[in-house]
Amino acid sequence: MAIWNLGSINADMVYALPHLPVAGETLAARGLDQFLGGKGANMSVAAARAGARVHHIGAVGPEGGWAVQRLMEYGVDTRQIASLDLPTGHAIIAVDQGGENQIILYPGANRALTLDQIGQALSAADAGDTLVLQNETNMQSEAAEMACKLGLKVAYAAAPFDAQAVQGVLPCLDLLFLNEVEAAQLQQAIGKAPEALGVADVIVTLGSRGARHYHKASGQISEVPALPVTPVDTTGAGDTFTGYVLSALDRGLPMPQAMALAARAAALMVTRHGTADVIPDLKEVQEAKF
Ligand code: RIB
Repeated sequence: MAIWNLGSINADMVYALPHLPVAGETLAARGLDQFLGGKGANMSVAAARAGARVHHIGAVGPEGGWAVQRLMEYGVDTRQIASLDLPTGHAIIAVDQGGENQIILYPGANRALTLDQIGQALSAADAGDTLVLQNETNMQSEAAEMACKLGLKVAYAAAPFDAQAVQGVLPCLDLLFLNEVEAAQLQQAIGKAPEALGVADVIVTLGSRGARHYHKASGQISEVPALPVTPVDTTGAGDTFTGYVLSALDRGLPMPQAMALAARAAALMVTRHGTADVIPDLKEVQEAKF
């Protein structure tokens, strides 16, 4: 089977800072690095590095050829990435000494996809494939509906969080990824806890405490622990977790094993500076000692 990812592609400008800036503060960075990023691109790379066949559906601007090239080098099928007459998306990322971040997004081409592009891409998908989406592109609900009708499984990572965006895809979802804050925000917005959303599988990530799985069919709630690591940069760790879970499920692993593998990948990821370019591959994840 394959994973189709309607996802953002960004140039990540990562600034190393002594602390995250507060309103009105001017702060000199101690370093600047550029990476391939975007929640979408990060998930595509993670899923590909975890062994899945991944097709990325997205868009870049005229200067975005490097990002497409890099995705291709990382094993992602890039034939469904459009080149538009808008700037490629970018992110300005501040990372403090404890690995926490603050992100400013410029969506650019990520929010200019067309229904035609989505239709054309998904017409090449097979029933049983998975479509994953996040909230950094347009065409989310359109793509989710189309995928449902074509018999794909639909997964959604609700980041950056917007309750309306989640509600737009909710009826089509088979799998929903939220972090704890997003789960609380969604409950506040629609009055439903994760187990009451009507989604077959809901995963709530709990940061350094691991992740929780709500399984609708059995009513069971189970947890996988996080691995003990000292984080240097948490950016992209959630995307890595999501990509690894999807890839493992696509390969037929049961959910507890998929989540345990993804927890190892995310743990390794937070020990590295950067985003898509530094996502660990399956061998590294399996061999890592924690
Ligand atoms: O989740 C991390 C990602 O968020 C970064 O790569 C950045 O581009 C933003 O999309």
